[in-house]
Amino acid sequence: MAKLDGAKVVVIGGASGVGFAVAAAAMEAGAEVIVGSSQAPRIEAAAAKLGAKGLTVDVKDEASVAAFFEAAGPFDHLVFTAGDWGHMLGATRDLDIEASKARIEVRFWGAARAAKYAIRQIAREGSITLTGGMLAHRPRPGAPLTTASAHTTEGLAMGLARDLAPVRVNAVCLGLITSEQVQAWGEDMIKGFTANLPLPRAGSVEEAAEAYLYLMRATYVTGQVVRVDGGGSLV
Ligand SMILES: NC(=O)c1ccc[n+]([C@@H]2O[C@H](COP(=O)([O-])OP(=O)(O)OC[C@H]3O[C@@H](n4cnc5c(N)ncnc54)[C@H](OP(=O)(O)O)[C@@H]3O)[C@@H](O)[C@H]2O)c1
Repeated sequence: MAKLDGAKVVVIGGASGVGFAVAAAAMEAGAEVIVGSSQAPRIEAAAAKLGAKGLTVDVKDEASVAAFFEAAGPFDHLVFTAGDWGHMLGATRDLDIEASKARIEVRFWGAARAAKYAIRQIAREGSITLTGGMLAHRPRPGAPLTTASAHTTEGLAMGLARDLAPVRVNAVCLGLITSEQVQAWGEDMIKGFTANLPLPRAGSVEEAAEAYLYLMRATYVTGQVVRVDGGGSLV
């Protein structure tokens, strides 16, 4: 299996949660890491904690994404975990379409912008890993657009895998992972979502990070989705 020793890894969304854990794990595996996110104080604090380089980037803004990759220079692997937690829930008759568009702006269009400029700097044997969620495969009442949005990520990964080959492109599909955002929901709500899983708990950010490390190293894997969901696909 390919090692990450000496590889250069860029993590957009690395200020917190899953992205921060991926950055830490990649560094532990010997990679040089650049973390990016939109709020300067947050990304500076994360970079200092990691001992990595931090750069601000707002994936909603194409010029910002272009400048970010220009500053990053040539690199091997891109991990994209950027996402906001804006409103996207609601019964169909009450959908807030404008607020929902804003959310797709980061997770879908942001990933597309990142791919557009990453490909100018990424190594031929490099990889891009996007981030989706289990609501794609386990729709719930009151969240139709969240399900649709999660599918866009997996669709983008598959399309990019064909278009950008031999650069590999994959996605990680997350179940409930206890990032700071999710921890803030409180234990009762987390238990409510996870008690019936084959692995009846939420996953840790470190457990999620393992999938990204695998996809960076897995040199014969492209266009795939790896689920980190405690077996949620089975129930
Ligand atoms: N945790 C879960 O259970 C779970 C489940 C399914 C899917 N997901 C998805 O997985 C991803 C990571 O989740 P997480 O829990 O680790 O969330 P998180 O801690 O909120 O991480 C998201 C990161 O994205 C950055 N970000 C937000 N808007 C941005 C923008 N416009 N440009 C660049 N960076 C931006 C944030 O930093 P700044 O504020 O500094 O920009 C933050 O570091 C998200 O897309 C989330 O929807 C998570």
